[in-house]
Amino acid sequence: MPPGFQLGPFTLPNRLFVAPMAGVTDRPFRQLCRRLGAGYAVSEMVTSRKELWGSLKTSRRADHTGEPGPIAVQIAGTDAAMMAEAAAYNIDRGAQIIDINMGCPAKKVCNKWAGSALMRNEALALEIVEAVVDVCTPRGVPVTLKMRTGWSLEERNALRLARAFEAAGIAMLTIHGRTREQGYKGLAEYDTIAAVKAALSIPVVANGDINSPEKAREVLAYTGADALMIGRAAQGRPWIFRELAHYLATGEHLPAPTVVEARDLLTEHLHDHYGLYGELSGVRSARKHIGWAVRGLPGGEAFRQHMNTLEHCDQQLQALRDWFDDLGQTHDRLPAILAANDEDTADAEEACAA
Ligand SMILES: Cc1cc2nc3c(=O)[nH]c(=O)nc-3n(C[C@H](O)[C@H](O)[C@H](O)COP(=O)(O)O)c2cc1C
Repeated sequence: MPPGFQLGPFTLPNRLFVAPMAGVTDRPFRQLCRRLGAGYAVSEMVTSRKELWGSLKTSRRADHTGEPGPIAVQIAGTDAAMMAEAAAYNIDRGAQIIDINMGCPAKKVCNKWAGSALMRNEALALEIVEAVVDVCTPRGVPVTLKMRTGWSLEERNALRLARAFEAAGIAMLTIHGRTREQGYKGLAEYDTIAAVKAALSIPVVANGDINSPEKAREVLAYTGADALMIGRAAQGRPWIFRELAHYLATGEHLPAPTVVEARDLLTEHLHDHYGLYGELSGVRSARKHIGWAVRGLPGGEAFRQHMNTLEHCDQQLQALRDWFDDLGQTHDRLPAILAANDEDTADAEEACAA
């Protein structure tokens, strides 16, 4: 895999991106993934609804303290003028790249014609893109876009839209290889991504179900994409980025992290997480990250359930330390498991709607 590429004024260090995931890819998680080899990270989506900009959720999502650039903020909405305003607002608060969300399948978003529902209304989708590009271009801010392959199998219009978006000034396009109708079910397909890549001159990023070094190599070769975006497989396994990078560069597998390293990385992540969310809500929202980290490991499920009974940061941290230290008695490195990619459907749709 060649090194990174140019996105507007920014040189991306490599071609492995962490996906925006509402409720997951917050600033602490983005920073962790970047440290472990992700070359680029897009923030969770921020609504274009002005009345929500002052909310705690939106201000946490807009937190980029100490984050390495470029700062990419994803916006979601249904109204071109509001989306343009949201882009300007986020640029004023530090966004260096604006990403338009046309990928979320959630009902709540779709009922308002946002997310992937926009793909069904091509005129509105294009109007939004043009309005956002108009605001961003004079400020030197590239506009990127993330979408699915289409609304449904019968309406797979990604190629037509991609051409229109490129002509309207989009600087990079990410495609999740599923239709809106599929939600997160079934398998991602890569033919549409390959067709879009072949037709466009701007960088195209392939996304969907990339959960192993072999799969990464296969998807890159099949689609000819310029970069890969990884979402669910990075949950609880942020080191996947260095593993993919190593395999793509050498054809060899990097050993799994030692149990001690995994423990320490998760501990640091939790400290950062509590810092952003505070103890009360941080302890609760950290549970999902811990659950993912121990998923598939011996005794992991029982530990996850125990974790749900703990209400304080210090209890959570201690329990985690004890659990990993126990695991370390029998394992030097984390036992190999294939990242599960299919159990988060409901969560993802709900998170996306939030
Ligand atoms: C919990 C969750 C939240 C998500 N939130 C967003 C989001 O805010 N914006 C977006 O464009 N996609 C969102 N997605 C979709 C992912 O970015 C990605 O396209 C999808 O998970 C497929 O990639 P994967 O198979 O590597 O997970 C979300 C996915 C999950 C699982």
